[in-house]
Amino acid sequence: MAEEPLLRVESVTKSFGGVVAVSDISFEINRGDFLGIIGPNGSGKTTLVNLITGFVRADRGSIRFKGMEISGKRPYDIADLGISRTFQMVRLFYNLPAYKNLIIPLSSRRVKRLAAGSYGEKDDTAIDLLDDMGFERDSFVPYKPAGTLPHGYLKRLDLARAMALRPELLILDELFSGMSMSEVASTLPLIEKFHEEGITIVMVEHRLKELFNVASRIMVLNYGVKIAEGPPDEISQNPKVKEAYLGIEVEV
Ligand SMILES: Nc1ncnc2c1ncn2[C@@H]1O[C@H](COP(=O)(O)OP(=O)(O)OP(=O)(O)O)[C@@H](O)[C@H]1O
Ligand SMILES: [Mg+2]
Repeated sequence: MAEEPLLRVESVTKSFGGVVAVSDISFEINRGDFLGIIGPNGSGKTTLVNLITGFVRADRGSIRFKGMEISGKRPYDIADLGISRTFQMVRLFYNLPAYKNLIIPLSSRRVKRLAAGSYGEKDDTAIDLLDDMGFERDSFVPYKPAGTLPHGYLKRLDLARAMALRPELLILDELFSGMSMSEVASTLPLIEKFHEEGITIVMVEHRLKELFNVASRIMVLNYGVKIAEGPPDEISQNPKVKEAYLGIEVEV
């Protein structure tokens, strides 16, 4: 018998008023996959992420994680099962020191359960996580109020928040948007490291060149519809994809 995929999305549809944001989309993700999701602005990428993570409820269809129906569950309960995500528009506690933003996920049921016995000092764990994200401890960056940090740091703080939950499936919604070239260059290897450590990754991204280099499969949305899915080299040659990106270079 074939192994149950980690995530199985079947015929999921979501409309907002007259707009069908996600239309009858189906796909599967296996453990260890690195799936890229691309599509023009407004094509339904964030809505799909919101559907999987419980921030938006599907009108129709099924979403199963490890065989369990999660469609209709709340975000906290879905995160508890091992799916975490970053936000296109980061929402953090801007008045708190950056590292304090990690205390909520580090205090979650999931982390307590997984850390059983070796539940360390949360502040130290938070600082260690930010070390991994390149927050210069020696310059006291983790201790500065989040609101005073440049945009690229906020995106990486949001990534640290998602990683603090020890996800099995990590969904990144335009992590690189607003990051400088050097921030992208230093963040990309982190994502690859998480993947090598066994985390399954879904990456929604407009930076196609970087995405096509790391993802093993690409799914393309246009007007809420899945128009293509396949290996990066195949997708970059796909005429339907080129047409959807009218004028935007899909050469990678
Ligand atoms: N909460 C909402 N209320 C009303 N309409 C919404 C809502 N969320 C999304 N939409 C609409 O659904 C469609 C898909 O939006 P979505 O944000 O999922 O696209 P996207 O692919 O993530 O776009 P972008 O690349 O700009 O981030 C758009 O037409 C958008 O206006
Ligand atoms: Mg979006």
